[in-house]
Amino acid sequence: MVLQTKQTPGDTSWFVKDRFGLFIHWGLYALPARHEWVKHREEIPDEIYDKYFKHFDPDLYDPEMWAELASNAGMKYFVVTTKHHEGFCLWDSKLTDYKAPNTPVGRDLLRPMVDAFRKRNMKVGFYHSLIDWHHPDFTIDDIHSMRNHPNREKLNKTRDQQKYIEYLHGQVRELLTGFGKIDILWFDFSYPATQHRPKGWVGKGRKEWDSERLYKMVRELQPHIILDDRLDLDDGWDIKTPEQFQPQDWVKINGQPVVWEACQTFSGSWGYHRDEESWKSVDQLVQMLIDTVSKGGNLLLNVGPTGRGEFDERAISRLNGIGEWMKRHSRSIYNCTQAPEEFKAPKDCRLTYNPDTNRLYVHVFAWPFKHLFLRGIPKERIEYAQLLNDASEVQISSPEVHRLEYGDVKPDDTIIELPVKKPNTVVPVIELFLK
Ligand code: GLC
Repeated sequence: MVLQTKQTPGDTSWFVKDRFGLFIHWGLYALPARHEWVKHREEIPDEIYDKYFKHFDPDLYDPEMWAELASNAGMKYFVVTTKHHEGFCLWDSKLTDYKAPNTPVGRDLLRPMVDAFRKRNMKVGFYHSLIDWHHPDFTIDDIHSMRNHPNREKLNKTRDQQKYIEYLHGQVRELLTGFGKIDILWFDFSYPATQHRPKGWVGKGRKEWDSERLYKMVRELQPHIILDDRLDLDDGWDIKTPEQFQPQDWVKINGQPVVWEACQTFSGSWGYHRDEESWKSVDQLVQMLIDTVSKGGNLLLNVGPTGRGEFDERAISRLNGIGEWMKRHSRSIYNCTQAPEEFKAPKDCRLTYNPDTNRLYVHVFAWPFKHLFLRGIPKERIEYAQLLNDASEVQISSPEVHRLEYGDVKPDDTIIELPVKKPNTVVPVIELFLK
């Protein structure tokens, strides 16, 4: 039996099959190129940060190429920052002047992106920041870029969070009415005062966003939409979104498995970061994708395009590397989930399982010498076994055959005979057709 989650309010049926998406963080922060939180980190005042607005000119922006790169990497959907915490909007919002059409690039950057990805049959997701360090009515709280301003209290007297709420809701309405069917809405994020925060913490949560009303509008406008879990509401969300770490097991809430999506970066920051040296390798990223699906989750992998409008060569080489693996192995990712409890992953391996075809996939992270021990999968249950990269048969032996070498092997252990040389792919996969 495969683990099941309970029905979600939005339509997650395609999501749990597609498994792999592209996150895009793109905004003015691509120019400082030293983290998308740079305005907060360096406490940059609006009038200084404005230089990025004045110089934002991604002349090499080619959304067709972005969509092509993502699709070739095996990604099936994308989620783009319509607005990040800095407040800058990629589309031609009627509710603000702080938008791409008013920068040197002079046009809506979101619409052609949506079109390009849709053309390749990819589902469309919008990330929208609840936080806004540019809007004049957004009250200054403990993560605001002006949190240490000497006149913080005085400034806050002139700010009206209610007006910001109307702006936030109005923009979400624009996004959900102006771009056709939107498959995912990814709000980010809430940080109310809780016991984990320091005493006296000034944050924001459901009250400051009027999350309940926002939620109702979202479901009214696009009832099927997949909504993330960052509105600070107890129910109503569809997916849990662990970020920058790999959960150890299928993500559970009150003991119940839920639909989940890990979001991960290539190098640490989400926006384009010129000098970061902590880039993950293709091997690591492919293993991360497999690990996620082996625990019943999705992976949303992020690219931070440059200020010229390109995916830089480090991102492209990762995407191509993943695509090279996916070309031959996507069968062990799409439509797959955590394997039924009875199957135990062999040493250094991850299992995924396709319930429709009854095939089990053994992903071998560290290639062993000659033999792979499958515990709890008796030989009789396996109809056929092959390496996925080239559909070459791998033979299956009963434990008795290897009693001399390995001593007392259990009767329901199965031994797979592997070539000594690791197949030439980052993670070899053995496909088991089960009876
Ligand atoms: C965080 C950060 C952010 C990023 C997001 C992605 O909450 O604020 O910069 O956009 O995670 O999950």
